[in-house]
Amino acid sequence: MVNESQEKQLCHVALIMDGNGRWAQRHGVSRIEGHKQGAIAVQKLIESASEFGIKYITLYAFSTENWKRSREEVNGLMDLLKEFIDNNLEHLQKNGIRLLASGRIEQLPEHSRESLKNAIKLTADNTSGTLILALNYGGRSEICDAAKKFAHDVVKHKIDIDELDESRFRDYLYLSEVPDPDLMIRTSGELRLSNFLLWQLSYAEIYVTDTLWPDFDRDEMKKAIDGYYQRERRFGGRG
Ligand code: IPE
Ligand code: IPE
Ligand code: MG
Repeated sequence: MVNESQEKQLCHVALIMDGNGRWAQRHGVSRIEGHKQGAIAVQKLIESASEFGIKYITLYAFSTENWKRSREEVNGLMDLLKEFIDNNLEHLQKNGIRLLASGRIEQLPEHSRESLKNAIKLTADNTSGTLILALNYGGRSEICDAAKKFAHDVVKHKIDIDELDESRFRDYLYLSEVPDPDLMIRTSGELRLSNFLLWQLSYAEIYVTDTLWPDFDRDEMKKAIDGYYQRERRFGGRG
């Protein structure tokens, strides 16, 4: 039985980093420039995360639907991903942060994928915190992929259909060992999930700010966290 203070401890924050395009438009620059400013905001956020005692941060960086964007924008985002990893690897190592990825990573272009895999390998033993990049991630794809893996295990007689429950199903999700997010932050004011962590966000507290992602800084993060600690989490109980 988890006590109330443990339930409330903020362990995992998931962020939908939205609004780079609107930021670019407002500043009269290209969308790619908006994404570059977004990457700088990520860098700063990682630096402030330890101050808030957050163990896990998941960043929605590229959705399974984002392939619909222009080739120029998609290529720019993929190049930026490699650049971001190469620029931040040293910081991750110095601060003991482990990097993980969630999503259909094998479909990313080779240069970004190799850089990502290398950083994941090099930071695997770090224990101070975990940074998860949701890349080519879709909540529906994740659930479909889990269902497929489960079906394969049934066919191979590794598990019986009747053994399936929520906890066993969870084992088939992309990063099953990572606890569910306690807080989900979305920037830029949109009131939707956009296919993000559909299973894991079932009981997350949701915080939406109008601030555009490139303007999201330590003070904005603090506001969201302070807001979280004022919520009453019920998990369906205490009727
Ligand atoms: C979020 O910013 C970044 C990604 C989806 C990769 P957007 O590019 O969606 O910004 P808006 O929504 O157009 O402002
Ligand atoms: C969600 O933002 C995906 C990421 C932040 C990576 P989108 O901009 O793609 O979401 P929609 O299109 O507004 O729902
Ligand atoms: Mg958007």
